[in-house]
Amino acid sequence: MKKKQNKMEKIVAFLKDNGFINLSSEPYGGFSSSYDYGVYGVELKNNLKKAWWDEMTKKHDNIVGIDSAILMSPKVWEASGHLSAGFADELIECKSCHKRFKADELKNVNKCPECSGELMSPKKFNVMMKTFVGPVEDNANVVYLRGEACQGIYMNFLWAKNSARMKIPFGICQIGKAFRNEITPGPFTFRTREFEQMDLQFFVKPDEADKWFEYWKKERMQYYINLGIDPEHLRFCDHPQDKLAHYAKKACDIEYLFPWGFAEIEGIHNRTDWDLGNHSKFSGTDLSYFDQETKEKYVPYIIETSAGCDRTLLAFLIEAFNEFEKGRNNDSESTEYLLKLNYALSPIKIAVMPLLKNKEELQKKARKIYELLKMEFTTKFDDGGSIGKRYRRQDELGTPWCVTIDFDTLENDTVTIRNRDTMRQERINVDDLINFLRIEHA
Ligand code: GAP
Repeated sequence: MKKKQNKMEKIVAFLKDNGFINLSSEPYGGFSSSYDYGVYGVELKNNLKKAWWDEMTKKHDNIVGIDSAILMSPKVWEASGHLSAGFADELIECKSCHKRFKADELKNVNKCPECSGELMSPKKFNVMMKTFVGPVEDNANVVYLRGEACQGIYMNFLWAKNSARMKIPFGICQIGKAFRNEITPGPFTFRTREFEQMDLQFFVKPDEADKWFEYWKKERMQYYINLGIDPEHLRFCDHPQDKLAHYAKKACDIEYLFPWGFAEIEGIHNRTDWDLGNHSKFSGTDLSYFDQETKEKYVPYIIETSAGCDRTLLAFLIEAFNEFEKGRNNDSESTEYLLKLNYALSPIKIAVMPLLKNKEELQKKARKIYELLKMEFTTKFDDGGSIGKRYRRQDELGTPWCVTIDFDTLENDTVTIRNRDTMRQERINVDDLINFLRIEHA
């Protein structure tokens, strides 16, 4: 008998079947903890990055963006504390809740003190991934794949500030890959060894750090709600003082209710002057800020908001995933799926469908409408199978609109436009189509 899948197993299978996410290196049976984004997954990921980028750089006049290199001077990682501090301790990790404990704190204990799960053996563990530059593989040529993307922003603090003539308070944002040699990756894309972060580093006067910390907590929570996550599925989780990362004075996670429980999707940190202070010391370059008006000189405090691109994308997919065992009208033998993504995130915005495949006039008119729309909206020409089947296929991809070209279209230049969520169909003039879609997608 076929095993009944749980919700997460269903979603993972659905994402593979529909071209969203799949294991990397599939012809070789997959590669541990690495995933590829497929035809629709990449469109969704690009839309998510654009939504985040616009949220930062268009909504806020005082935020600019950069794109820094993954490979940096190894000194960056000495100064940031990633080669020492909490990153090279002897650790024991719990196999079930993934909490790590210092080995010497767990003498004579063989169960996880938090959840009573099974414990792994102790390991000297530094999560930084190493490689070499140049032809000689020796210690002098070791470099690290960046363990957190934000260090590239600190390297660009002066350049971005000067070139965009920014005054504190201001932010620099970036989307980029980071790498960590996680010992217990998963579930799925939640924790991987290669992942993408969407980071804002917001530079403030030290005595205003608490105010900005609270400001960014609210902004970031609202962002998830605006993009369609039910507020009941989100919560803040403050880090206790003794669990703070080595760079943080204060930290709060935004957590999403995954099928396995609430878990972090974004971290908001008060990093104080730790980063710019240490990089000034280690590099010999003064990274302090001079306030022209008050004539004060100080090392800015940093309020960081760091969202996992892959992890938040997974949250948006889980939130959008709907399954109807008896079809959406409760009258079918087969299961139907609906991906109720926010329009801004949907990989395809409109599917253009000639009613019949073998009627040349319908095909011609449909192609014309497709050409009209495709440069402004991500549009798909879909003429395979019955209209019902095509609607179902587009519902699975989260396409908000299906436009059908039928014989009336040839007579009076109107089309039917069907909404994904209500399944309502309206007739609309072709001339009004672009305006209608512009308003819906504004
Ligand atoms: N610069 C701060 C920083 O890196 P973090 O809390 O370690 O802070 C920020 O990471 C976000 O990056 C997390 O909230 C999570 O969404 C994402 N992230 C961290 N490690 C990850 C991993 N191994 N796989 C996928 N996403 C990860």
